[in-house]
Amino acid sequence: MDDKIVLTGIKPTGMPHIGNYIGALKPLIDLSQNHKTFMFIADLHALNAMHDAKEIKQHTYEEAALVIAAGMNMENTILFRQSDINEIYQLTEFLMNVTPKGLMNRAHSYKALVEKNTESNIDVDSGVNMGLYTYPILMAADILLYNSDIVPVGKDQKQHVEFARDIAGYFNNIYGETFKLPEPIIGEEIGLIPGLDGRKMSKSYDNTIPLFAPSNELKKKIMRIITDSKTPEEPKNPDESTIFLLYKQFASESETEEFRQMFLKGGMGYGTAKTMLFEKIDSALSKQRAEYDRLMANPNEIEEILQRGAEQARRIANRTIAKVKKKMLGL
Ligand code: ADP
Ligand code: TRP
Repeated sequence: MDDKIVLTGIKPTGMPHIGNYIGALKPLIDLSQNHKTFMFIADLHALNAMHDAKEIKQHTYEEAALVIAAGMNMENTILFRQSDINEIYQLTEFLMNVTPKGLMNRAHSYKALVEKNTESNIDVDSGVNMGLYTYPILMAADILLYNSDIVPVGKDQKQHVEFARDIAGYFNNIYGETFKLPEPIIGEEIGLIPGLDGRKMSKSYDNTIPLFAPSNELKKKIMRIITDSKTPEEPKNPDESTIFLLYKQFASESETEEFRQMFLKGGMGYGTAKTMLFEKIDSALSKQRAEYDRLMANPNEIEEILQRGAEQARRIANRTIAKVKKKMLGL
């Protein structure tokens, strides 16, 4: 067991796709095997754009069920809902006072909106609420509250983790050594998982395969994968085939090699290859999918897990707030 503390937050946005699973969730599952891991559903972070409470709550259960079912090591993981920890609101307020406004002006997501507004000749801050503007401070509070060392995130979140380091530094400069400086680790961009149309699998291209799609939906999606027009007899290049590239994510080395040879030799039509891919993914994910469905049918069980996690998270959060209050207010 490594003694570094891993922490990450997931926004409650609904079922991820197979690309998210391979690129983001699986590396986290691996880290949780030998690290103490804090993982929370970032419902407060959803608030700047989502205003439907029921939807946030439902997606929170989905994300939590997903994390549990997908195989996080729950012995090592403290799973909780961000908003259940009152100390997060406290630390955010404290950190506001050491964070320069200029830092927030530099945040990519805010800057992107300002640029869009400028191009459209409307007020630069149109559509920007303070939740969005101060988003990186809340995220710094998430990271610093639990003494995190390592923060695995996607590329788009790297700047936020760097801001958390900066904010920790500002605080330490004024009040003396208090916070550890967290390190981002960024999911590797290699081996991007292709989607149904061969481009990167992405929500924005509408070419995704949902991770826990029911068998019949999974099959339909896989049958829609775009291929070239080679006849069954012709040899095919596996490394250019979405079917092969997806297959190898779920198959053993020897199965992958066998499948590769079937492509190279010729004599296998794409229909057959798709059926093999469907069977592979369907069986590889069936246990996790069944556990996900079971949990979603028992939201009380999910809530209990989240509450147990919150209790543990609060114990650490309490200590951080006591330290900060003492340094900032002498209390
Ligand atoms: P999308 O492109 O569907 O909007 P996100 O940008 O929300 O996906 O991705 C969340 C995380 O999932 C990213 O940090 C990235 O690591 C991973 N990811 C997304 N799409 C892929 C993909 N096609 N292949 C590998 N990893 C991916
Ligand atoms: N902002 C992240 C996202 O949009 C989610 C998140 C919130 C997070 N707090 C965090 C990630 C703390 C890592 C650490 O995906």
